[in-house]
Amino acid sequence: MTIKHHIIDTLPKHPISRIGKCLVEMGKISIEDTEKILKKQNETGQRFGDAAISLGLVSDEDIKVALSQQFDYSFITPANSTYHKDLRAAYDPFSNQVESYRGLRSQLLFRWFNEGFKAVSFIASNRGEGASYLVSNLAVAFAQLGKKTLLIDGNLRHPRIHEIFNLKNKFGLSDILVDRVSVIDALQHLQDIPNLSVLSSGTVPPNPQELLGRLTFNQIIKNASTVFDVILIDTPAISDCSDSQIWSSLTKGVVMVSRLHHTSIEDLKVLKRSVDLTDASVIGAVVNEF
Ligand SMILES: Nc1ncnc2c1ncn2[C@@H]1O[C@H](COP(=O)(O)OP(=O)(O)O)[C@@H](O)[C@H]1O
Ligand SMILES: [Mg+2]
Repeated sequence: MTIKHHIIDTLPKHPISRIGKCLVEMGKISIEDTEKILKKQNETGQRFGDAAISLGLVSDEDIKVALSQQFDYSFITPANSTYHKDLRAAYDPFSNQVESYRGLRSQLLFRWFNEGFKAVSFIASNRGEGASYLVSNLAVAFAQLGKKTLLIDGNLRHPRIHEIFNLKNKFGLSDILVDRVSVIDALQHLQDIPNLSVLSSGTVPPNPQELLGRLTFNQIIKNASTVFDVILIDTPAISDCSDSQIWSSLTKGVVMVSRLHHTSIEDLKVLKRSVDLTDASVIGAVVNEF
C-alpha cells in the first residue's frame, strides 16, 4: 500500500512584504487576503499597508501596531490598554506632539546623559502645568529608544504617575524609605513597554521632607544609577512645597516645566532661584502648550 503525502501549502503564491507577514501573524489578515492585497498593490502601485487599508481589511491602527512590532517599538492602541489617555507616546507615537518629546529626548541625551549623568528632575512652578504628563511621555520615549529607563514619582504629596500608567500604588518610594518594602519589590515593570520601570510614590506620608532627607534616599538613586541608563523624576510644584530642592541636589540636573499663558515670568524666576539655591543646574526648560 502506498501512502500519499498531501502537503498543504499555506504560503501565498507571491512573496509578501514584512508588514504583510506581521499582519498575518497578528491574525489581522488571512493568507487569502494577502493575495487580494497583492493584486490591488499591482493595480494601484500602493504600498502593501495602504492597499490593505483601501480594501477595508485592516485599519490604520493595525498598520501602526504591525510597524511597531517590526521595529521592536512599543506602541499600544487605546482599545487594548488601560493606560491613561495622557500617555500619548504609547498611543500615538507618530504624532507631532510625540515628535517633540523625541526632540527633547535627543537634547537631554546630548546635553546630559551622554555627559555621564543618569538622573534629571522635572520641576514646575505650580500644579497643573503638565510636569507629570511631560515626564511620563518622555520616559516612554526613552524606553522606546532602548534605554533602560526608570521613572520615579517623587511627588509624595500629589502623586500622579501610578494613575497615568494605571499601576498600583500600594508600595513605592515612601515605603522603601521607611523599610516597609525592598526596592526590588517596589519597582513595577511595564509589560507593553519593555525598557521602562516605574517607582510610584507609595503611601502618602505625613512627613515627606523628613523621608527625603534620609540617608537611604541617596543610596536608592546611587544604586539605581548602576542599573538604569536614564532616571527621570517627577517632582511636586515649587508653589506646593520645597521637596523639589532635595530632588534637584540629588540629580544635579533640572528641567523647568511651564505652561503657555499660565506660568508667569515671575513664577519662572522663583523656580530658577530655587534651583540656584542648590548645587544643581537648569539643563533645559519646556513650555507646554495645551
Ligand atoms: N501637553 C499636554 N497636552 C494636553 N493636556 C495636558 C498636557 N499636559 C498636561 N495636560 C493635562 O493637564 C492636567 C494636569 O497635568 P499634570 O501633568 O498632572 O500636571 P502637574 O503634574 O504639573 O500638576 C492633566 O489633566 C493633563 O491631562
Ligand atoms: Mg504632577
